[in-house]
Amino acid sequence: MDKVVALAKRRGFIYPSSEIYGGIAGFWDYGPLGTELKRNIKNEWWKSMVQLRDDVVGLDASVIMNPEVWKASGHLEAFTDPLIECKVCHKRFRADKKEEVKEHEKEHAGKKTEWTEAKHFNLLTEVYLGVTEPKLKTYLRGEITQGVFVNFKNVVDSTRVKIPFGIAQVGKAFRNEITPGNFTYRSREFEQMELEFFIKPDETEGQKWFDYWKEQRMQWYTGLGMKKANLRFRDHHDDERAHYARSATDIEFHAPIGWSEFEGIHHRGEWDLSRHKLTYKDEDNTEYTPWVIETSGGVDRSTLFFLLNAYHEDDKRLILKLHPKLAPYKAAVFPLLANKEEMVDVARKIYDNVRGEIMVAWDDRGNIGKRYAAQDEIGTPYCITVDYQSLEDGTVTLRDRDSAEQKRIPKDTVLSLIKDQLL
Ligand code: GAP
Repeated sequence: MDKVVALAKRRGFIYPSSEIYGGIAGFWDYGPLGTELKRNIKNEWWKSMVQLRDDVVGLDASVIMNPEVWKASGHLEAFTDPLIECKVCHKRFRADKKEEVKEHEKEHAGKKTEWTEAKHFNLLTEVYLGVTEPKLKTYLRGEITQGVFVNFKNVVDSTRVKIPFGIAQVGKAFRNEITPGNFTYRSREFEQMELEFFIKPDETEGQKWFDYWKEQRMQWYTGLGMKKANLRFRDHHDDERAHYARSATDIEFHAPIGWSEFEGIHHRGEWDLSRHKLTYKDEDNTEYTPWVIETSGGVDRSTLFFLLNAYHEDDKRLILKLHPKLAPYKAAVFPLLANKEEMVDVARKIYDNVRGEIMVAWDDRGNIGKRYAAQDEIGTPYCITVDYQSLEDGTVTLRDRDSAEQKRIPKDTVLSLIKDQLL
């Protein structure tokens, strides 16, 4: 983990928020490369969940909503975490994170660790609106989900969706976490990518769609290069399910901090629509409250886990083996020598031609070995070098990140060759 945190800072993936003022716990900024990686993850998600499906439409709801939403959804009452404090060293822990609690007890080996009684803290972040008193007290959304439910009728009335169908959304959520930590893993501001899939209220349908979305989501991660050995499902026990869930399964990643959840598949039943008093009328005019199967992924946790999954170091090289679809730059273009005008001109033309369609880096500093190494550690799948031979026969070298093999290809085929890898 420490190595990935250091690489993320050094190469501009992730920085601590407001760092020059000492930072602020639970907040992170994405640098130039992190922004690209995160955007690629979100774009791939949108493509698979909305663009390629007939039964899902998109939504972009507001972060702040009428506070009544949070009363109806049950979050004001039940969206809490239990806080306990070690009476010996006054460190605070979430009582439901049993592994972390056990780990701490080991640190006090020999002495008996005494804990305070668990106190429950609500995770919603309060905001106050307006300029005159009394200001309106409301909340930053604690999950992006409620924006979908309160727009259920709008979407049904304004589009041609018919049950079963889904509404997908990507956006920021905020939780006043009592123990933020483990880099971006537990943040107070983070992004979610979620699908709320509406189905008939029927046990068989519920099980069918729950199983279907579990598999779809697992395949999406492995399709983007997550190693199967790094992934598993974990069913929630009865005492850990969120207040809205009838059943829940996490997708977990085998991280250095242990197996860690980064996506939840939840059977929310009729909880949300019934709380918002919303129903659906079938074609034959039968009215009912649909059930909901939800897939709720964390963009920040996925970004962290894609980085950890891709990190590869041996005695020769440090490589970020990111899937080409996720890599911040799809290729880098180099003139072998920065002071050879003809070489620079040819390389610049290739660069200008390619950058209209894909993210591509330019580098003409230092020796070529160092340039390759700099691209390997940020995950650039291909490097294209214009050398002496290029000036004679119009070919360039194409170097593969993972094998470090080079081959000569006609310079006009560079773009199509790279794009083939991205489709
Ligand atoms: N709408 C359902 C929902 O929000 P959740 O299990 O509370 O369910 C879903 O959150 C996902 O959001 C998690 O699997 C995780 O990836 C991400 N997430 C939740 N809390 C987070 C936090 N404090 N920091 C970073 N990501 C978080």
